[in-house]
Amino acid sequence: MTAAGRFLSLEGIDGSGKSTQARRLAAHLRGSGRDVVLTREPGGSPGAEDIRRLLVEGEPDRWSAETEILLFTAARRDHLERTIAPALAAGRDVVTDRFADSTRVYQGATRGDLRALVDLLHGAMIGREPDLTLVVDMDPAAALARGLARHSGEDRFETFGLPFQERLRAGFRALAAEAPERVVLIDGNRPEEVVAAEIAAIVAARLPR
Ligand code: TYD
Repeated sequence: MTAAGRFLSLEGIDGSGKSTQARRLAAHLRGSGRDVVLTREPGGSPGAEDIRRLLVEGEPDRWSAETEILLFTAARRDHLERTIAPALAAGRDVVTDRFADSTRVYQGATRGDLRALVDLLHGAMIGREPDLTLVVDMDPAAALARGLARHSGEDRFETFGLPFQERLRAGFRALAAEAPERVVLIDGNRPEEVVAAEIAAIVAARLPR
């Protein structure tokens, strides 16, 4: 029987550099001989990518917070069923750019009282956490400047502005304090290759292969 692969998530506020770090981590693991699936949320499977478009395009008030949580959870369920679980079962490592912590923090930051609903849906429909979560932590002003500079057309969340990004940062830091055995904070205010080397070292130390 094949040993299950390792499940790793990258998290952070918009423009934190986590997507770059997810790519670098996947490349690093491949370089050490691992078979790696690099994926992202919202999205990561054909059905979840369809749901992504509903979520990231359009007006900031397009969905109520409750509907948004249902859509993110539906996308995650499809991603888990079609992409993540089969890869892990086949012994492949999975590196995902965002997972359930993004819903806890983003939807919880909009309306703090929704965290219980996020956790309820997670328990019923997802039921698993990454083996290790790396939060790229950085100054929201610098991160926001990077994010808006991209003009990707997917800036529905980024247009909420700096105070929102500051609440998100605090939310990710609180998660790391809540679950230190799974969630590790990385200082993202450093050169990309320095951050990448630290992430590679943490993965090697926490999840040896
Ligand atoms: P993402 O593609 O990671 O955007 P970026 O590369 O700019 O960070 O995610 C799109 C947006 O969706 C982002 O603003 C974060 C938000 N999001 C949530 O609000 N909840 C979630 O559960 C997820 C996965 C993402």
